[in-house]
Amino acid sequence: MDLARSLTFALTSASMVAVARGEFALTTDSNCHCYQTNATQSNYFSHHRFFDFRSLQDHINVPNPIDNWDDSAGAPPTSDYFTNSQFADVWSIQNWSNSELIDLDNSTITDATLQMVNSPNNIYIERDEQQPDNTHLTLRTIRHHDFQSAAEFESVSEKYHFLSMRMEARTQGPPGAVTAMFTYRAPPNPEDTDLVQEADLEFLTRDPPHYVSFTNQPAWNSTSDIPGASHNVTFPGPGRRWSDWAEYRMDWTPGSSTWFVDGELASHITFQAPRDPSQVIFNAWSDGGSWSGRMPKGSTAYLQIRWIEMVYNNTDSHGQHSKQEKQSTCENVCSIDETSKIGTPVLVSAGYRQAVQTALLWSPVLVASLMSLVV
Ligand SMILES: *[C@@H]1O[C@H](CO)[C@@H](O)[C@H](O)[C@H]1NC(C)=O
Ligand SMILES: *[C@@H]1O[C@H](CO)[C@@H](O)[C@H](O)[C@H]1NC(C)=O
Ligand SMILES: *[C@@H]1O[C@H](CO)[C@@H](O)[C@H](O)[C@H]1NC(C)=O
Ligand SMILES: *[C@@H]1O[C@H](CO)[C@@H](O)[C@H](O)[C@H]1NC(C)=O
Ligand SMILES: *[C@@H]1O[C@H](CO)[C@@H](O)[C@H](O)[C@H]1NC(C)=O
Ligand SMILES: *[C@@H]1O[C@H](CO)[C@@H](O)[C@H](O)[C@H]1NC(C)=O
Repeated sequence: MDLARSLTFALTSASMVAVARGEFALTTDSNCHCYQTNATQSNYFSHHRFFDFRSLQDHINVPNPIDNWDDSAGAPPTSDYFTNSQFADVWSIQNWSNSELIDLDNSTITDATLQMVNSPNNIYIERDEQQPDNTHLTLRTIRHHDFQSAAEFESVSEKYHFLSMRMEARTQGPPGAVTAMFTYRAPPNPEDTDLVQEADLEFLTRDPPHYVSFTNQPAWNSTSDIPGASHNVTFPGPGRRWSDWAEYRMDWTPGSSTWFVDGELASHITFQAPRDPSQVIFNAWSDGGSWSGRMPKGSTAYLQIRWIEMVYNNTDSHGQHSKQEKQSTCENVCSIDETSKIGTPVLVSAGYRQAVQTALLWSPVLVASLMSLVV
């Protein structure tokens, strides 16, 4: 064995000893060159973002519903939290409506039966009733007398290229609403619905309490459902319901979408997995169509979110890495899974520079390893 190989072996042993102690140090994003998740060994993500809605007491404001269509679209943000750059640089609160798409007599794009408008008034911070010292974000959708108001925020960037995104959330409300976390890439023309790229986590309040839907769109065309695009499954593990708080996770990696609930695998779809850079969207809505159903007049449904976390963008665009390539682009590998503090990464493996430092601290191990090679 030549010296370089011996040294590499010794350094690897040394860093493995450090790791075997089981304690990963909390670190900061500035110290992480890439992130590995505990579900994908071959994909490394280059960026990390964390939005914590749990201690925004200064921003609590549960606004009264606005029963007027124009005022719903024109409503201001409910708190300056949403206009601060930390939020607004990444997310854009929507006020579009389906009135251009909808044709109540005949439409091939949507089977909506209700006019729906997204309102900034339906996105706000409120007290967490189960953790009264804390707050959460709420997305609200309301069935008004003659229209539906909804809530949606979209990423400003349309260029998320693979990701692992998570939220701690729950959904509340009567049948007829959809709440969702998804990636979206619009088709080149709105009519080309077969060219949409989209991976969805959706809760349908018309579903039984322990059902959840996972889809790589398109899930239907003008004549039929597309087999294999959508999985309507029961929650993994017993006793879980969409009305309870849980950690929901979607991993979009080259060639597949995978969903987890509280760390347990819930579904995996390779068919029609999105390929190209996409937006990230959260919403709560209903349009009276066949997917959402119709909420009773005067009723309200909610998507409530305590935090959102994402690692995104592959460290290389093909999603494949040789070990050498990885080491050249990514010295310090971090994890958001192995952490003891949600939102704060831990350093799981340090590159050569840090490995040398580690090895020096572990010089008895280094010496022992070298000796064993010599013998
Ligand atoms: C939507 O919001 C923008 C500001 O973000 C505003 O200029 C526009 O008028 C709103 N649209 C409607 C239909 O009110
Ligand atoms: C509805 O759409 C179908 C298919 O595009 C068309 O054949 C039919 O004439 C339309 N009906 C009305 C009332 O527009
Ligand atoms: C992901 O990476 C691409 C290519 O480097 C870049 O253009 C894009 O802005 C990145 N996406 C985000 C959300 O930063
Ligand atoms: C999912 O399956 C359940 C049980 O069969 C059913 O009640 C529900 O309507 C289904 N939901 C969707 C969206 O297909
Ligand atoms: C709709 O999807 C079905 C199932 O994949 C397929 O057989 C059919 O040809 C598609 N129809 C159209 C109009 O694309
Ligand atoms: C992966 O990490 C998540 C936390 O992000 C955890 O809930 C889950 O149990 C872990 N899965 C495995 C297989 O270690």
